[in-house]
Amino acid sequence: MPYAHITGWGMSVPEPVLTNDDLAKMVDTNDEWIRDRTGIRERHIAREDQFTSTLAVEAAIKALQVANLAPTELDLIIVASSSPEYIFPATACLVQDQIGATKAGAFDLLAACSGFIYGVNMAAQSIRSGSIKNALVIGSETLSRFVDWKDRGTCILFGDGAGAFVVQASDKPGGVLSAVMHSDGSGADSLTLLGGGARHPATETTLAEGKHYVRMDGKAVFRFATRVMGSATKEALELANMKLEEVDWIIPHQANYRIIETAAKYLKLPLDKFVINVDRYGNTSTASIPIAAVEAIEKGQLKSGNKVVFVGFGAGLTWGALVAEWTGPIPTKKHVHPEQYRLFARLRSLIRRALRFLEGLFSRREL
Ligand code: UT7
Repeated sequence: MPYAHITGWGMSVPEPVLTNDDLAKMVDTNDEWIRDRTGIRERHIAREDQFTSTLAVEAAIKALQVANLAPTELDLIIVASSSPEYIFPATACLVQDQIGATKAGAFDLLAACSGFIYGVNMAAQSIRSGSIKNALVIGSETLSRFVDWKDRGTCILFGDGAGAFVVQASDKPGGVLSAVMHSDGSGADSLTLLGGGARHPATETTLAEGKHYVRMDGKAVFRFATRVMGSATKEALELANMKLEEVDWIIPHQANYRIIETAAKYLKLPLDKFVINVDRYGNTSTASIPIAAVEAIEKGQLKSGNKVVFVGFGAGLTWGALVAEWTGPIPTKKHVHPEQYRLFARLRSLIRRALRFLEGLFSRREL
């Protein structure tokens, strides 16, 4: 049975930064309150011309560069997102087209902030089963588009960004060692974006009622998060036959510094075992774990051979944890340039659109 290794990683955040002081000019809040209650100092907000797929593609190309893998080699693309570009088509298909992943299947995964863990686990299981060899898992968000900038309970929390992992088959032991995924729909009301789905399609009323915004019972989510972070970590470690002492790094979903602090206390681990960057990005939902992982690698913290736990929670309610032995790119002699495929991808896309148009014209004549 092949092992599923994380062989590439990349992140992308939009340049514009929104500080707590900027927010204090928009709603009744202040830097001190936000820092005390959440640990967040600033977050990045997508420009008008940046979309969930834009950030996803940038992160994906970087991840493919690290893995030294051509997009044409990908078998599967999973985009986990709480702010997909559309209900359909899947953002994953937009990414597939833009990076030139000619033979990949592509779908979006909605498990809110736990989505990236779910996605990596799904990719790893497909690889372990032998059905695919190379997968790309992306967490990408432009949640700023769904935030009510008049609601100080939510608008201070979220930020935009994307992170991606390449997951590949290898006979070498290691890679993804275990994972747990959980859900509890009885808590569905705690964190919602109700408008625009089949139950509340967009109308003037849904707009007036603010149904197209993120709504949250912050305290309920906080209590839930502090309960499940530690327990999911323990559960995944048990499945991997590992002890907490063997873990080098815990990379938690970056929602609130205090939630991470509580998890550390529960697990009786020092906070310096946790990768934390919520101060600079806020909560980027599905993107927060891969962004934190990429930064940990770039800082020289997360290294090949390290044992790492990813743990997250989110709307649904969902939560999960994944244990991995960090490896890195699979050594190979060839050197590929995934970014160069973008031009071919654009041309290919244009040609296919033109052919589809012509096909439409001719088939109309035949009718
Ligand atoms: O990916 C999952 C996404 N969600 C989360 O992880 C969120 C989890 N929850 C949280 O992080 C916290 O519950 C919040 C940060 C959202 C709120 O912190 P809290 O300590 O639970 O505050 P609270 O809602 O109980 O509010 C305390 C007080 C209230 O005033 P009163 O009633 O005590 O006078 C709020 O009105 O703070 C007030 N408040 C604010 N004040 C200044 C609420 N938001 C703000 C604000 N600035 N932004």
